[in-house]
Amino acid sequence: DWTPDAFVESTVDALKEQLGDDRVILGLSGGVDSSVAATLLHHAIGSNLHCIFVNNGLLRKNEYTEVLESYKGMGLNVKGVDASEKFYSALKGLTDPEEKRKAIGKVFVDVFDEESKLVENAKWLGQGTIYPDVIESVSVTGGPSQTIKSHHNVGGLPDYMKLKVVEPLKSLFKDEVRRVGKSLGISPAILGRHPFPGPGLGIRILGEVTPETVAILQEVDAVFIGELKAAGLYDEVWQAGAIFLPVNTVGVMGDERTYENAVALRAVTSTDGMTADWCHLPYEVLGKISNKIINQVKGINRVTYDISSKPPATIEWE
Ligand code: XMP
Repeated sequence: DWTPDAFVESTVDALKEQLGDDRVILGLSGGVDSSVAATLLHHAIGSNLHCIFVNNGLLRKNEYTEVLESYKGMGLNVKGVDASEKFYSALKGLTDPEEKRKAIGKVFVDVFDEESKLVENAKWLGQGTIYPDVIESVSVTGGPSQTIKSHHNVGGLPDYMKLKVVEPLKSLFKDEVRRVGKSLGISPAILGRHPFPGPGLGIRILGEVTPETVAILQEVDAVFIGELKAAGLYDEVWQAGAIFLPVNTVGVMGDERTYENAVALRAVTSTDGMTADWCHLPYEVLGKISNKIINQVKGINRVTYDISSKPPATIEWE
């Protein structure tokens, strides 16, 4: 029978055997998967693991500094790299979802490549790939001609990096990853985090991504997530986030006409992200969130709630 303790023990042994005295580089994302993968590798090879946490400028509000601090507290050998400007310039003028994903993926690889060259004698790239990542990107979507979304964290390694890939979570589903994380003593705050896509807010801002729209969406998202936590609903939701809509709508504030952007809120229940139902959040909570967003976030005068399930909709809008 599969148990998290047995998985940890056998995986750490196998990693020790596989990696010996080699050095491994791993990109942390702040999410559950890469954190658990890093901790497993840390148990196996200690300071031969070098972690890199890239700020792509598309993270949640304050997430870069907060997550970097929490990793340092876990003893992971982590370097933070703020590459926001590079991502913003690559995204300039792009509106097509796949082009945006590819641009983000490419900058990520470039930044990562640059950073990994600074780690001498690195032989391996560690990744937090889990089983649903593999199937969503390959078989379920029916190959390259039918790719639904290009998940940039799967198989995106350029040849010149000459690193072998080590993916200790490749056979696990999300709930199993969380159980493994718990057995490794990772904090509930990290393990309980909602999944967050690699391209981040870049695929939750429909149309062109600019530093200004990112700043607005970060505020909206922070209100939404903060209120879910305050209402005790965060852990009941599998994933939640806000989407910036590139449409202006007419509103009224005091005696003034406003003509500002709309946002959509998305909250789903799921077990693995492959299928998902929209959450029936209480109306009172939705109402409070909407009021708070419109009153506090400059540039937003309308809030909508996404009541689509997957399939046929996907969780992210892009
Ligand atoms: P969709 O939108 O395909 O999302 O229903 C399913 C799950 O995958 C996440 N997602 C991504 N995760 N890189 C990631 O690491 C990506 O490019 C990506 N695109 C979607 C999404 O947030 C949801 O949890």
